[in-house]
Amino acid sequence: MRFRGDGGMAATLKVGPEEKVRIRVKVNGVWYEREVEPRKLLVHFLREDLGLTSVHVGCDTGHCGACTVIMNGVSVKSCQVLAVQADGAEILTLEGLAKDGKLHPIQEAFWEKHALQCGYCTPGFIMETYWLLSENPNPTEEEIRRGGLSGNLCRCTGYQNIIEPLN
Ligand code: FES
Ligand code: FES
Repeated sequence: MRFRGDGGMAATLKVGPEEKVRIRVKVNGVWYEREVEPRKLLVHFLREDLGLTSVHVGCDTGHCGACTVIMNGVSVKSCQVLAVQADGAEILTLEGLAKDGKLHPIQEAFWEKHALQCGYCTPGFIMETYWLLSENPNPTEEEIRRGGLSGNLCRCTGYQNIIEPLN
């Protein structure tokens, strides 16, 4: 077992693939400290170590966006980030959106507009929408389609209803 030093990201430490690294991550407002293998992806850390199963694995190759979370205020595909790279970071997942049993307005909008079919892609779309609106509170349809949500795929092809809540 190796502990993170002050010399940079844990990912830069020279550790064997089986050797564990201790990381601290603030997720949905709560700090967690865990030991992880250096090769572990953030998506697997969130799902397996913290039980946050809204973070879906759709492709593992960075194409589908089902694993989207907000890390230090920026949307990231968590299958493209190592857990050790998130050491010290603040992360928001879908589980952190609802407050006091009340859905976040974006969740409400997806619900009202029926912006989902099987729902597998939905957490990723909602988190990407959250980030898009934090960057641009009033996006045009073009900005939503070509920029904001272009990195998220829906295999049920429900795009029209996904765009609706944003219009
Ligand atoms: S699982 Fe990460 S982009 Fe598809
Ligand atoms: S609602 Fe089924 S993949 Fe998008």
